[in-house]
Amino acid sequence: MHEELLRLKEEALKDIAEAEELKSLQDIRVRYLGKKGLVTEKLKGIAGLSKQERPEFGRVLNEIKALIESSISRKEDILKAADKQRMLRSEAVDISLPGYFTTIGREHPISKILSEITQVFTSLGFTVEEGPEVESDYYNFEALNIPKDHPARDMQDTFYISDDILLRTHTSPVQVRVMERQRPPLRVIAPGKVYRCDSDITHTPMFHQVEGFMVDTDIRFSDLKGILELFIHAMFGPETSIRFRPSFFPFTEPSAEIDIGCVLCFGAGCKVCKDTGWLEILGAGMINPRVFEMVHYDPEIYTGFAFGMGVERITMLKYGIDDIRLFFENDIRFLEQF
Ligand code: DAH
Repeated sequence: MHEELLRLKEEALKDIAEAEELKSLQDIRVRYLGKKGLVTEKLKGIAGLSKQERPEFGRVLNEIKALIESSISRKEDILKAADKQRMLRSEAVDISLPGYFTTIGREHPISKILSEITQVFTSLGFTVEEGPEVESDYYNFEALNIPKDHPARDMQDTFYISDDILLRTHTSPVQVRVMERQRPPLRVIAPGKVYRCDSDITHTPMFHQVEGFMVDTDIRFSDLKGILELFIHAMFGPETSIRFRPSFFPFTEPSAEIDIGCVLCFGAGCKVCKDTGWLEILGAGMINPRVFEMVHYDPEIYTGFAFGMGVERITMLKYGIDDIRLFFENDIRFLEQF
């Protein structure tokens, strides 16, 4: 009888010792101590023993039961601790491991030059104004002294939305919009996107311009020259030579185009300046009295100058870029260079 119990005990202890996971330990508990477990069955069997045998058998069996219980719970602690270790190891953070690198964006060269231009003019007391990119024929042309049949409309390949609504072809309409709601003195620049139906290595359907104008009772052409000279020297360096060429714009009279000495060949002659040694960078002039009349400014009292420049062109010259389309291809290898 005792031998049988001894074997049961040895077997149970061996099973417990061999258990490698909590799940199998649970199975062992059921097998020995469960309702139909081996130990439980034996306890039930006590009833069938003789009166003399019962106490001793019961005592030994209870000892064995207690031993199995405590062995299981000790093994359970060990296995739980091992599990926890395993989990900690798998979830460990290696702080010496280099992090993931994400590429960091950069300011687009156009935005960069745009803020440089803005900076120069705001430091001279100019304020920054904006106007709509979807513009009416009136502001884009009519109010700028470009009536419907005017040949100057051909110079600008306009995207029309309807007969009267279009994508602005230049930032000059902002002049009119500002003058309609403000009285002189005015010192304003208007940067923004403009649109023309044109595309090659020096033209894109969308590009950026900065318009500038100054209006007061005594503004002269010499003020225009002074301001533009300051601007050009700030942008391209104080050594840069400047040339004013007579030109025509319907909204200015007199009008001029402004060239700078070629920043690539310094006058020696190259492909970019077409061997002239000069690069055109600006259109400008004295605001046409007709424009003042449109906004109900008295041309006998007020005079002003205006100018307009292409931001892509200035950026291309400053960085020696020969294809305007590079700005809009978003090739990171190109953009990273600025
Ligand atoms: N709006 C002209 C263009 O897009 C540029 C321009 C020329 C603006 C002369 C001006 C100006 O304000 O005075 O071609």
